[in-house]
Amino acid sequence: MTSVSSNTIAAPLPAHWYADERQARDERELIFHRSWQVAGLSKDVREPQSMTTAKIAGMPVVITRDADRELHAMLNVCLHRGAVIAQGSGPAKLLQCPNHAWVYGLDGKLKSAPRTEREDDYSCEGMDLTPVAVLEWGPLLLVNLDADAEPPLAELATMQESVERYGFAFDQLEPMPEQFEWEIECDWKILIENYLECYHCATVHKDFSQVIDVSPERYALSSDGILLTAHAPVRDTSKVEQQQKILATDGGPVTDSHWHMLFPATTFNVYPGEGAIEITWFWPTGVSKSKACCIFFKMPGASDQYIEQLTEFGIQVMEEDNALCALMQEGMASGAIASARPLPKSEALVVAFQKLVRRALA
Ligand code: FES
Ligand SMILES: [Fe+2]
Repeated sequence: MTSVSSNTIAAPLPAHWYADERQARDERELIFHRSWQVAGLSKDVREPQSMTTAKIAGMPVVITRDADRELHAMLNVCLHRGAVIAQGSGPAKLLQCPNHAWVYGLDGKLKSAPRTEREDDYSCEGMDLTPVAVLEWGPLLLVNLDADAEPPLAELATMQESVERYGFAFDQLEPMPEQFEWEIECDWKILIENYLECYHCATVHKDFSQVIDVSPERYALSSDGILLTAHAPVRDTSKVEQQQKILATDGGPVTDSHWHMLFPATTFNVYPGEGAIEITWFWPTGVSKSKACCIFFKMPGASDQYIEQLTEFGIQVMEEDNALCALMQEGMASGAIASARPLPKSEALVVAFQKLVRRALA
């Protein structure tokens, strides 16, 4: 392991890290394949003998619940000739490879490998599916490709508390049926850095800034472990435009907004009003290319009208951000500057994020 001095850790990331093939490969392996990522919804494996599949920064994963209700997660790649085994979600008693019909149990153990017994020199020893770490967290399934990884319990508890403080049971959040996905021509770090500061909100998110108090005095930033958080109250509702009123405090019990980012790239947003959260997670798909997936969850008692308007609001903000991020990507990749220079106070979470990136790569 290379040692990194605290000065190096504090230095802004070099601009070329946002458009470099080797850097992208290192980040995929050292960050995305060693951290906790959203892999799906708990409801997809609620029943015994069920499974669901996901990709974690390109790596196929299968999550199962066995007949004894135990949860398992494995790489979804056959040890024989490398075919992806399971697709989609649904009931499952076994996992059978579509190629040569090898069968694995829901715990990933190889159960049968036809015709291998006819081979003189072939052992199926050690050919179980590769396990990965899995955790059911309220309505979500999280996985970490590092099977020995410890779950970030303190960080998860902080996010959960920002829902439960309003009297909502985290387990009862109801996922909306529609999931949104974007492909963005942009390095994932630009998207996350954009998320982590609201210095741009007054310029870019006019509607958002009418509802949420984005002034530096009220928009509070904090970091704890791998959780970076912004917290802001809603503005005085009498000044809020009619179409945004539904998100204001007189529309429900949630008086503040909470914007969490679990490193490296999972965002957890608690919206004001009747109560909803949005979870969006990002991952790199190549050099300067990323994807994002977003699900809204309704808190018990929130109206359909509220969730509809909130979804529209959240997507509008996301699209405003994506357009802006494309401009930052172009500039950072151009070679015109050696690095960005985030503001230590207003962009403190960008600075904290860049330190976490450097630490993860060190
Ligand atoms: S590749 Fe899976 S059984 Fe051959
Ligand atoms: Fe933004």
